[in-house]
Amino acid sequence: MIVSTKQLFKHAYGKYAVGAYNINNLEQTMGLFQGCMDSKAPFIIQLSKGARQYTHKKMLEAMLKTANEIFPDAIFAVHLDHGDEATCMDCIGSGFYSSVMIDASGETFEKNIEITKRVADAAHAKGIAVEAELGKLGGVEEHVSVSEADAKLTDPAQAAEFVKRSGCDSLACAIGTSHGAFKFTGKQGLHFDVIKDIAKLMPGFPLVMHGSSSVPEDEVRRVNFFGGKLKDAKGVSEKDITKAGTMGVTKVNIDTDGRLVWCRVHREQFALYPENFDLRPPGKVFMAEYACYIAGKNKVLGSAGKLEEVRKVL
Ligand code: G3H
Ligand code: 13P
Ligand code: ZN
Repeated sequence: MIVSTKQLFKHAYGKYAVGAYNINNLEQTMGLFQGCMDSKAPFIIQLSKGARQYTHKKMLEAMLKTANEIFPDAIFAVHLDHGDEATCMDCIGSGFYSSVMIDASGETFEKNIEITKRVADAAHAKGIAVEAELGKLGGVEEHVSVSEADAKLTDPAQAAEFVKRSGCDSLACAIGTSHGAFKFTGKQGLHFDVIKDIAKLMPGFPLVMHGSSSVPEDEVRRVNFFGGKLKDAKGVSEKDITKAGTMGVTKVNIDTDGRLVWCRVHREQFALYPENFDLRPPGKVFMAEYACYIAGKNKVLGSAGKLEEVRKVL
């Protein structure tokens, strides 16, 4: 069942985080649904601009509608990830999305508010929720000064003003993470002080953590063993993810880990079975392995086992 992102957030806030997983194709879709059913978790499916262009945006919609029929017990929201204004408006008009993310974080504070407000007004008229972003996502190196770190991380007072003036429904904050497989060079991690300060100023307001892949060491080792070249890859510790979920981080975005599972499975499969040229054997293994990854991650997030509780409050 496709539900509103807001409903999922309301149930989760302060207790656990909902996993927001990016998908691009059929195998990821099947693995994601299976993993969420196995772990009995509500979830968010994220479609990026790149994913919408990979085959066709209509193909993604058709896949999700069909997955909804194949897995009738699933409870999920459909979300546009990192949209620009035009893509947000397209998704709002399509009537298919539960929520959109307007990412104007590269603009000035005032311009970010202006763009986000335009998107929020259009989205709210159709009952669609809006995620916005404030701050510069990116790892904060250990040697940088406090003022340099503050320049990157979301400023709590600015966040409160931004939310009030833009009308967004959730906020992606820069709290030390970055996208991709190379997040930290040393012992850096999440800036819990920043999360705490933002949540204190906006109690009950859902915060979003982008760049939340854990980049599992074992996946990286196996990718590299079969010819990959992922040197010094590092992600967010799972302990930190669980903690953030109890502090107001209600949506945790994960894409890279899924790509790593895909890469590891296909490297292994083609190395171990060099005579095979059929796409289905590795595809089957990937779907099962991805489902297993998702189920494990939902346990870390605390969303595992929450499906029936959520169904009752819908
Ligand atoms: O944050 C970005 C997501 O990982 C989506 O990546 O734009 O390559 O689909 P993409
Ligand atoms: P990762 O690159 O850590 O998976 O983050 C994905 C993300 O933030 C999507 O918006
Ligand atoms: Zn992101």
